[in-house]
Amino acid sequence: MIVAPSVLSLDYSRMKEQVDELNVSAAEWIHFDVMDGHFVPNLTFGPDILKGFKKICRQTMDVHLMVTDPAFFAGVFLNAGADIITFHIEAMDNESDIHALAAMIHERGAKAGLSLKPGTDLAVLKPFLKDFDLFLIMSVEPGFGGQAFMPDAGERIMILRSWLDLTGSRALIEVDGGINEETGRLCRQAGADVLVAGSYVFKNDIRKAVSSLAG
Ligand code: DX5
Ligand code: ZN
Repeated sequence: MIVAPSVLSLDYSRMKEQVDELNVSAAEWIHFDVMDGHFVPNLTFGPDILKGFKKICRQTMDVHLMVTDPAFFAGVFLNAGADIITFHIEAMDNESDIHALAAMIHERGAKAGLSLKPGTDLAVLKPFLKDFDLFLIMSVEPGFGGQAFMPDAGERIMILRSWLDLTGSRALIEVDGGINEETGRLCRQAGADVLVAGSYVFKNDIRKAVSSLAG
């Protein structure tokens, strides 16, 4: 299981200490929640913050765009060194723009991910199963850390896993929101490959929490 701690929940008054812990933990990715105050009612990081993390962290930089203009911000964060760019299907106008943005991300040498909110019909992903390297299932409403896991996510993971297997896609399934040891186990059993965790990792012993999710 890949674990992607979300630095949304990092204690920025103890940044150095927590980053040192992350670097000796089993975390393979760092999850970077970009919020623009429009797509979600919260505002987070710009590209310079990502550049700073890249200098001091060894992990893959996993950027989750919660913005109304993913095509613009994908370029901004690719320039800053993102390894993975995931954007929301709800922010896109039509199918061809989604294919085009995935292609642009790939041309820049990064991996492309597509995400959807808990209330969005899973079937909207069907035309894109072969275009993306990962699908991010939100298990909370995007915008804030520390919310409770929505159990429906388990069934959504299982259904998506079966669609990916049928199409022969090797895309990863990532789950984001309310992940702890118990909900992480549920996601693993349902077929998830990557667990994002914010509060659970940064409000506990970082190394132990990451290990409990990595399995
Ligand atoms: C929520 C973000 C998450 C958030 C998860 O919109 O996408 O990545 O950091 O935080 P926890 O793990 O606390 O639910
Ligand atoms: Zn996220």
